[in-house]
Amino acid sequence: MTGLDGRVALVTGAASGIGAATVERLRAEGARVLGTDIRASGEIFPHDVTDEAQWEAAVGECVARFGRLDLLVSNAGIAGAGPIVDLPLEAFRAQARVHVEGAFLGMRAAVAQMQRQETPARGSIVAVASVAGMKPILQTTAYGTAKAALINLVRAVAVEVGRRGDFIRVNAVAPGGTRTPMTEALFDDAYWADPANFAGVPLRDYCRPADIAGAITWLLSDAAAFVTATTLVVDGGWLLSNRI
Ligand code: NAI
Repeated sequence: MTGLDGRVALVTGAASGIGAATVERLRAEGARVLGTDIRASGEIFPHDVTDEAQWEAAVGECVARFGRLDLLVSNAGIAGAGPIVDLPLEAFRAQARVHVEGAFLGMRAAVAQMQRQETPARGSIVAVASVAGMKPILQTTAYGTAKAALINLVRAVAVEVGRRGDFIRVNAVAPGGTRTPMTEALFDDAYWADPANFAGVPLRDYCRPADIAGAITWLLSDAAAFVTATTLVVDGGWLLSNRI
């Protein structure tokens, strides 16, 4: 349905959660996908998104395997929460390193590769941000600030590549609370099973990785051909509710 047949995608943070679901969905849509992760195993290419040289290697691997790069999903991420007075500078920096520097390095490498492939260049890039980057969530100072910067990075790059005359679209997806290994480490089964915990979500539920993968796939596809520099919120309506 999305016309991704034969397109070549690189997905970071592909070993788990939203990244793994995205790889699965993109392959189902006919894309050829290189999944990368700092936790390499099996099919996953070893890749720390904060390392400049490893971006060269990851994009190089994609080109070596599939001949080109059309789509980037900048998804790798780390959790982090706690009161500001207990927040070590290093933890704040780690959030910025993974979510902002990692995404910056990825966009730079992907745009350069797309511009080498054809003129005007074509491609689509999606970064996985968070509703925490749009409205503060208590005790996510570092995480939310990094995600807000990521949302602006997306807009800045989208405007720049658009002005140059290339057809590279750059967008963000902002998931609400999604049940993945990241959040399963914070909440037990009883939490996920109790609808009272989702009373502040108009759809009264939590997101599944496949919900986010669907939004990412749509943004990557030609169905979203005139969509750039935007943030697609996938949160069951939580952002407009009154709860923080
Ligand atoms: P996850 O923990 O299941 O998956 C994240 C993956 O990123 C892991 O496989 C991890 O090894 C990898 N990773 C971490 N640091 C890396 C690095 N430096 N280089 C390469 N890979 C690295 O988490 P989940 O939930 O699937 O998160 C995916 C993205 O979605 C993250 O950016 C997260 O911030 C974002 N997100 C998640 C939400 C949730 O409720 N789960 C809500 C909003 C956004």
